[in-house]
Amino acid sequence: MKVLVATEKPFAAVAVDSIRKVIEDAGYELELLEKYPSREELLAAVADADALIVRSDKADAEVIAAAKKLKVIVRAGAGYDNIDLAAATAAGICVENTPGQNSNAVAELVFGMAVMAARNMYDGTSGSELKEKKIGIHAFGQVGRNVARIAKGFGMEVCALDPFCPDESMKAAGVNPVHSVNELYSENSIVSIHIPATAETKGSIGYDLITSLPKGGILINTARKEVIDEEGLKKALEDRQDIRYLSDIKPDNAAELSSLFGSRVFFTPKKMGAQTSEANINAGIAAARQVVAFLKDGVDKYRVNK
Ligand SMILES: NC(=O)c1ccc[n+]([C@@H]2O[C@H](COP(=O)([O-])OP(=O)(O)OC[C@H]3O[C@@H](n4cnc5c(N)ncnc54)[C@H](O)[C@@H]3O)[C@@H](O)[C@H]2O)c1
Repeated sequence: MKVLVATEKPFAAVAVDSIRKVIEDAGYELELLEKYPSREELLAAVADADALIVRSDKADAEVIAAAKKLKVIVRAGAGYDNIDLAAATAAGICVENTPGQNSNAVAELVFGMAVMAARNMYDGTSGSELKEKKIGIHAFGQVGRNVARIAKGFGMEVCALDPFCPDESMKAAGVNPVHSVNELYSENSIVSIHIPATAETKGSIGYDLITSLPKGGILINTARKEVIDEEGLKKALEDRQDIRYLSDIKPDNAAELSSLFGSRVFFTPKKMGAQTSEANINAGIAAARQVVAFLKDGVDKYRVNK
């Protein structure tokens, strides 16, 4: 059986070595298609593949139609909006992601940005400490849980909002459950966003919520740019000179915000929450293990197209 690893942006060499070992130890053949110059290479390589591992590569209806033997696609990472789930389901292909493999990386970046904001972007002036400050975690999933763990280490008071997570689960992690988004934003001087972009959440964080932050509020977004109402964010930053916004997912109006608000806003040049060698290796190995578990034993624990 052939496992195709198709990555326009390749895994680190050490991750590829580990993926190869997992695949070959299981008795399968690994084909590596890295930095492919056009879709034709992908369409040709996938034609006789039994399994496909991708990163941000598009596995759309055309790719799926070209993959006559394909049984499973694993997206090495959390999001899977690069895969056409409906086409895969119609073709009887299992689609999986590798949740949690990059969540510590994202959570650490949250605190990189939180400390930077609390220390006035390292401009030489006197800042503030995170200890004993309140942080509100907007969604208590894989990343949110890691943010909570690190926040406890900083000695912060931690609360979280997640309608799909039982209070007991938060309490067991030393986190106070909050049940309204208004309370989350108005009671916490730092709010860290970790909701997925869904029909319900898109554009859901706007002027009213952002201006309800306490004085000196810091809003950090490492989730998806789509969850922010960008005009609302701009107006909130205009009306509340004390608020800061930091993100590794640039909003469409990033240049305008930077020119209007200077160091009160901060955007990494590229999305980089999950850009660590550890996350890269973890996700790649997890994807390879999941492929083997599926092909050998039909294990589909992380299936996303049930
Ligand atoms: N910046 C990056 O590089 C990077 C990397 C990984 C993930 N992400 C993004 O971070 C976010 C979180 O990722 P994750 O791995 O923790 O996902 P996850 O699926 O583990 O957690 C998402 C959580 O959101 C909760 N949720 C859903 N709708 C909600 C709502 N309306 N209000 C409150 N909570 C809600 C769910 O119950 C779940 O617990 C996603 O948007 C993901 O795309 C970004």
